[in-house]
Amino acid sequence: MPNRPHNMAATDLTKAGLFISFEGIDGSGKSTQARLLAEALRGLGHSVLLTREPGGSPGAEDIRRLVLEGDPDRWSPETEILLFTAARRDHLEKTIRPAIARGEVVITDRFADSTRMYQGIRRGTGADLRAMVDDLHSRMIGVEPDLTILIDIDAETGHSRAIARAGSELRFEDMGTAMQARMRDGFLALAAAHPRFAVIDGAGDPAAIAADVLAAAMAKLA
Ligand code: TYD
Repeated sequence: MPNRPHNMAATDLTKAGLFISFEGIDGSGKSTQARLLAEALRGLGHSVLLTREPGGSPGAEDIRRLVLEGDPDRWSPETEILLFTAARRDHLEKTIRPAIARGEVVITDRFADSTRMYQGIRRGTGADLRAMVDDLHSRMIGVEPDLTILIDIDAETGHSRAIARAGSELRFEDMGTAMQARMRDGFLALAAAHPRFAVIDGAGDPAAIAADVLAAAMAKLA
């Protein structure tokens, strides 16, 4: 152990735990980047838990199937907010909090900002859905990531990538580029308002993007 000061430092740092989320519109490449960051941090000696939403715990994965498969109009906007928040609560209780308590770096592919955008701004129902999302979040979740990495990409690129790889989970990929563009603007506005965000250009080469992502994470770990 004394001859491995670098790894010891990493171990000390991870004892505090760190919570990182990835956000972005469909097709932004955030899932690939989340995986690359997990691999890079593991290579540096950190214990990393890579997880995703909706899902990340057995109960939340059950809710994922309810909400992402089947008839898109199955749930009202309000019910959808409840389902995503219920999934997040289970994910937080069963997966995220225990890992942070063990001193791990938790990397989640999406967290509450996705609900703020996808459920909060998407439909003109007349109800203030964004206020509902925020209210429910403060009552039921109550935590934000230490670092949120927003992989920013233009709506056309994101949409064509998402359509190209879409499987049975077409629920939100189907939205079209106008909605994707609104969502992108919404994410950028959130990022401008909250210092926990790092905005990374998602247009270039995946390896170069991964280097930017790692730099943002290391700044938080330091
Ligand atoms: P995800 O598996 O991350 O798909 P992608 O890799 O395409 O981003 O998420 C699935 C879908 O769920 C995605 O279209 C966004 C949507 N979603 C919400 O609408 N609200 C939420 O709170 C979350 C976490 C995801």
